[in-house]
Amino acid sequence: SNLDYSRYLKGWIRTVPNWPSEGVMFRDITPLLQNPKTFRMLIDIFVHRYMGERIDMVAGLDARGFIIGSVLAYELNVGFVPIRKKGKLPFTTVAEEYELEYGNATVEMHTDAVKPGDRVVLIDDLIATGGTMMAGYKLLQRLGAEVVETAGIIELPELGGGELMRELNIPLFTVCSFD
Ligand code: PRP
Ligand code: ADE
Ligand code: MG
Repeated sequence: SNLDYSRYLKGWIRTVPNWPSEGVMFRDITPLLQNPKTFRMLIDIFVHRYMGERIDMVAGLDARGFIIGSVLAYELNVGFVPIRKKGKLPFTTVAEEYELEYGNATVEMHTDAVKPGDRVVLIDDLIATGGTMMAGYKLLQRLGAEVVETAGIIELPELGGGELMRELNIPLFTVCSFD
């Protein structure tokens, strides 16, 4: 079942204490991605979740959201939209500033990346304070897209991002969480 899968996949996430700064428990997904079996299991969870839905686009958050988002888009036979860190996209953009567990950042998206009414899955690897996911969500909303669901591999409940999104009635799906 999906519960067995998520427990198994959680075991492939490596915790690195005090990185990138003192006090942060960094949840590293590279072991999970490195193993072809767990990488496939992970992607398949998202594919099975959305393949029955009408989805027009997958939007992925720079940079770790690109790794899973592009593969998911390919499998769902839809296009992929990169939401990038500031200064990387060449065409006209919309921008949102946000805070994260260890700093500030701005994300941007091309103004022609989605059309009003497009049904979009927004994906990233991890939700901590929710700043990144919320910034991506706001960009998609500003362009009139309908965010069917926000999705991630990991939720860190202590940092409150998941709770914030549930309070705002923004659908969020994550594979596992770390307390
Ligand atoms: C990490 C992670 C999420 C975000 C979560 O990205 O990949 O995108 O932080 O934190 P939040 O919920 O508090 O916003 P980061 O900006 O560190 O960089 P990367 O994806 O480019 O590695
Ligand atoms: N992004 C924000 N907080 C993180 C953490 N603890 N581990 C990995 N990525 C993160
Ligand atoms: Mg990120």
